[in-house]
Amino acid sequence: MRAPVDHDPFLAGFIGFARAEAGRDPAMADAMADLVDALGRCRPLEAGPRPTYPVVDEHLGSCLAAAVGAPGELLRLVADRVGWAIPYPEHIGEPDMDHMRANYAYAPIVGTSPISSGDLEEPSPLYASDDVFAGAVVQGPGVTYPSHVHKATEAFWVAAGTADWQMGDAWTSRGPGATIFHPTGTRHATVTTDEPQLTLFAWTSDADCVPVIIRF
Ligand SMILES: [Fe+2]
Repeated sequence: MRAPVDHDPFLAGFIGFARAEAGRDPAMADAMADLVDALGRCRPLEAGPRPTYPVVDEHLGSCLAAAVGAPGELLRLVADRVGWAIPYPEHIGEPDMDHMRANYAYAPIVGTSPISSGDLEEPSPLYASDDVFAGAVVQGPGVTYPSHVHKATEAFWVAAGTADWQMGDAWTSRGPGATIFHPTGTRHATVTTDEPQLTLFAWTSDADCVPVIIRF
């Protein structure tokens, strides 16, 4: 019996892209090796709920149409099958986080099945893995995802839109085609201005860790 990766365009494409990224940037080699390994072992899941949100309905279509490179192709392969979620429910009531939560959503593509959280409809990833967490992010214009840290090693690939990215104390403008790599524990933030941004992301370690927002 063939493994899913052999006949799944998304998995095969993501593995090929991760291998290319490992060769392009030696700093990412170990993380991309972990990603390749996990993608080769993950398994398709049954289709589950596909919640969506206004930020997705408003911006995903135009972002996908404009999306560049392998990340754009990968996201177009799965966009009509994913469900969306809003992070940081524990920060509800904090004005900046309420604004972010109204204008930011992520779609799990590879990861663990969601744990039921009451009556909220949580999306399931398309592929099961306990070792990596990968997916799509839509961040609307004029949104600050504040500084945060997490144990997971994280890569973002910008498919569409330009935003300001913080890494440590440095800020850079990153647009379509950019790769942003955060080793474990790196303080980072993403601030959009006049454009929405669509990214493919992967946590290649500590996929069950909890991000911590930094307030000062
Ligand atoms: Fe992060």
